[in-house]
Amino acid sequence: MPQYDNILNYDTVALDEKNHALVIIDQTKLPNHIEIISLTEQKDIWEAIYLLKVRGAPAIGVAAAIGVYLAARQIKTEDYESFYKEFKKASDYLNSSRPTAVNLSWALNRMEQVVLTRKGSPAADIIEALHAEAIAIREEDIEVCRAIGKNGLALVKPGDGLLTHCNAGQLATVRYGTATAPMYLGQEEGYNFKIYCDETRPLLQGARLTSFELNSAGMDVTVLCDNMSASLMRTGKINAVFVGCDRVARNGDTANKIGTSMAALAAKRYGVPFYVCAPTSTIDMSIADGEGIVIEQRKGEEVTSMWYEKPMVPEGVKVYNPAFDVTDADLITGIVTEFGVAYPPYEDSLARIFLKKEVHGKVMELLK
Ligand code: MRU
Repeated sequence: MPQYDNILNYDTVALDEKNHALVIIDQTKLPNHIEIISLTEQKDIWEAIYLLKVRGAPAIGVAAAIGVYLAARQIKTEDYESFYKEFKKASDYLNSSRPTAVNLSWALNRMEQVVLTRKGSPAADIIEALHAEAIAIREEDIEVCRAIGKNGLALVKPGDGLLTHCNAGQLATVRYGTATAPMYLGQEEGYNFKIYCDETRPLLQGARLTSFELNSAGMDVTVLCDNMSASLMRTGKINAVFVGCDRVARNGDTANKIGTSMAALAAKRYGVPFYVCAPTSTIDMSIADGEGIVIEQRKGEEVTSMWYEKPMVPEGVKVYNPAFDVTDADLITGIVTEFGVAYPPYEDSLARIFLKKEVHGKVMELLK
């Protein structure tokens, strides 16, 4: 097995200013190869998101923001209406790459606002402002994840056993991750957690990515198959579960990687606190509950043959392969955001979190 550098030394997603390219770690190659790729064409950026070369809700949002900025640079017109039309076309195209993670449309909407609020400005000024916004989205993600880490760390104690599902780690964000942020911050403070990663069928984000990044950061990591987490929780070795999310509805129902709801059900049964780590950019207050969340369906070959030398399902057998599931709000102990931890009833507590965010935004504006 190759030796790795600490993954914190790498950028999951960045802008190459000199070559005007989106730079990502190709996550489909992990854990065996750390391959950094540079993308300049919109179709390649779309495909990188669709194929999960860059993945995880916040990282997808940052990649899309950089992607649409790069698209805007290519627009050759001084007419504002034509500029906006072409910008919108590029934005809609990137937005079509994956449906569940709200960060994708959230980031693209932020970029669109930059264009809309500069109606009539020269194209060069709009492009400069888009550049600044893409950088801001990226930088904010680091701060947000660190704040989630601080808030999450207050919920656990040194030596705890922590279970996580999928990869809501640094590889899913710019730095620290969301569900892994308390682990990284705990490590800085000598907490010595015992981390358990669900393998996360069918694309193995837990096995390939989370165990890789936490192990390379020097943490005590154990991988288990998804169908083993209930038996592990029953032993009492898990003190808390931390997971990420792709979209949280107003009532707290949470879409995250398929298998999350199974872990939440087991956690409830065995009295293990179950925390969803959610940047406010992943909370969609326009959706009342989980029924309104579109769940991405992916190709059957991810289940039948992708990881095997020969297909493991007879030809012609149908495959059920949703990429995400919805964990019912009543299974969730708390939603850890950058503005504090929301507890049930979520309709009220999430509204208070957004109020805090608004006040914070106004204060920051005044301090500028
Ligand atoms: O299909 P993926 O790998 O993009 O799914 C990722 C997840 O489900 C993560 O838990 C979620 O995006 C949160 S990432 C901080």
